[in-house]
Amino acid sequence: MLTSSLPVRHVSEFASDVRASLTKPGQRELPSKYLYDEVGSALFETICVLPEYGLTRADARLLEKHAGEIVGRLPSPIQVAELGSGSGKKTRWILEALSRRQKTYYYPIEISPSALAACAKELGQIDLVSVVGHEQPYLEGLRSVAEGRGDKDHLLVLFLGSTIGNFDRDAGEEFLRETRAILRPGDALLLGTDLEKSVELQWLAYNDPAGVTAAFNLNLLARMNRELGADFDLGSFRHEARWNSVERRIEMHLRSTCQQTVKIPAAGLRIMLEEDETIWTESSHKYKAEEIPEMAARTGFRCDAQWIDREWPFAQNLLIAR
Ligand code: AVI
Repeated sequence: MLTSSLPVRHVSEFASDVRASLTKPGQRELPSKYLYDEVGSALFETICVLPEYGLTRADARLLEKHAGEIVGRLPSPIQVAELGSGSGKKTRWILEALSRRQKTYYYPIEISPSALAACAKELGQIDLVSVVGHEQPYLEGLRSVAEGRGDKDHLLVLFLGSTIGNFDRDAGEEFLRETRAILRPGDALLLGTDLEKSVELQWLAYNDPAGVTAAFNLNLLARMNRELGADFDLGSFRHEARWNSVERRIEMHLRSTCQQTVKIPAAGLRIMLEEDETIWTESSHKYKAEEIPEMAARTGFRCDAQWIDREWPFAQNLLIAR
């Protein structure tokens, strides 16, 4: 690994994160949250409708089918906060079921203003539902929502789409613990988790033949070119997604197809990549259904119920704060 520093005046958070993760000793990395600029978010929406990527449809199917039962298990009155709402499409089922029994405030928490706007448009029309967006990181946003609620109001937190799988396992548990610390006993967390399935199915979901996931991954390099003045040649990198059977996760990488030097001026960085060296851009951990109640117990919740999709192994887990 060869790296050198270039002079730089102002360093954005993106630039300093890029610098820190690309110069880590050993495996070079980039934080997966930076996959989601406007182009990346649009590509992710396309991934969600790919025939090979069954995760989002399973998530939505479970919500559509069981929203009444989920809501029936929640205390009253209750308000809803969603971590990383995206366009908010799947949330409609829960909000419609809730609005049959009470007026509901829905607080999507997102760092992307365009996703918040799409979400308000999608869900703002439901009778008896008021949408109040929070453009903040997850836990910061959740703290403001929790502090602003009335004494009698309970909270339902939605963390859907197996986003928890993008954390390392320990970090995922720590995130649940921190979420719990913001909640009151009796509050709920609806957690979506993608379950282990055949290696072939899992592999194809991240190696779709149309190349949408490849474009999503490569866009991270294009984003650094656009925002940090970098000179990545996208033709000299290949998308790679592999199943790690020990860690039980898909790992997404960008493989350098030749020895090359890349400059990233806003991060004050010049890196030399060897032929075949990879940059690790994302992990998607998969779970066994029985792991979730154990994880809940370790983080201050109890698992009240679990619904599993038959077509695409995926679980909605209703966790209640103890
Ligand atoms: C958002 N997250 C749960 C997706 C996943 O499956 O890990 C992101 C994604 N990466 C590639 N395809 C989809």
